[in-house]
Amino acid sequence: MTKELKGKKALITGGSRGIGKAIALKLGRLGADVIINYARNEDAANRTASDLRELGVRAEIFQANVGDPKALDDLAAFTESTFHGVDILIHNAALGAFKPVHKLRLNQWDLSLDVNAKALYLLSQKLLPSFEKRGGGAIVTLSSLGAHRFIPNYGAIGISKSALETLVRYLAVELAPKNIAVNCVSGGLIETDAMKLFPDYEKFKDEVVKRTPAGRIGTPEDLAEIVAFLTLPQSKWICGQTLIADGGLSLI
Ligand SMILES: NC(=O)c1ccc[n+]([C@@H]2O[C@H](COP(=O)([O-])OP(=O)(O)OC[C@H]3O[C@@H](n4cnc5c(N)ncnc54)[C@H](OP(=O)(O)O)[C@@H]3O)[C@@H](O)[C@H]2O)c1
Repeated sequence: MTKELKGKKALITGGSRGIGKAIALKLGRLGADVIINYARNEDAANRTASDLRELGVRAEIFQANVGDPKALDDLAAFTESTFHGVDILIHNAALGAFKPVHKLRLNQWDLSLDVNAKALYLLSQKLLPSFEKRGGGAIVTLSSLGAHRFIPNYGAIGISKSALETLVRYLAVELAPKNIAVNCVSGGLIETDAMKLFPDYEKFKDEVVKRTPAGRIGTPEDLAEIVAFLTLPQSKWICGQTLIADGGLSLI
């Protein structure tokens, strides 16, 4: 594999597990140095960093709750002091209560909006000088089909992902003149720890597999490949898009 990202510096929120980890390893295989942000599970973050170092790239971990604006200041400062700038920001971290919207508490609404959407708005502002110093780069975030359609118990996350996709379109237009590409990758169900929080997960998964033309649910690597493509010069003409990668689920 050619090291097309050699010398590039990447920050991945929630890069320690699941899809974030798959993205970290893919960017590492392409030669990027990576900061892994995580919230609670330091062991997982250390394991991912160690896997990255085995690929021959630099890897650091940084604990920060991305729903907390002060913690984002610290994360941006760490990124600057560690890498002297950044070329790639992947906002992948997400959280949300799995319950009907009409039963959501205000703090559960706020949590999803803060972690899933507001964090990208603030991080993009805080890292902008860092991107500009290095002549531009790429910002990619993760969404899901629940941003556009009803998925039982998924309202808190779905609504925050709608906001996130709209934020991507605004940032993309505003930052294109600065040579920063902003895009989003949206997936159907992907096998990660997060999905096991769905009420009746195994039944839900079986239903999704039956309805998916490709006949399976996605893997973290399915999305990581597309996220990585959106950080490469080959994709530079894609601006402000949400690319859906779901094995055809959303077509039927
Ligand atoms: N799984 C799916 O079916 C699916 C489908 C489409 C899109 N997506 C999107 O893909 C992304 C990753 O999902 P996933 O399933 O891989 O999630 P996951 O397995 O639950 O992993 C979440 C990651 O985010 C970190 N994190 C959670 N809250 C955080 C916070 N407040 N601050 C900083 N880091 C935080 C976690 O760190 P700790 O371990 O330290 O808490 C972990 O590294 C999300 O944006 C999700 O919406 C997922």
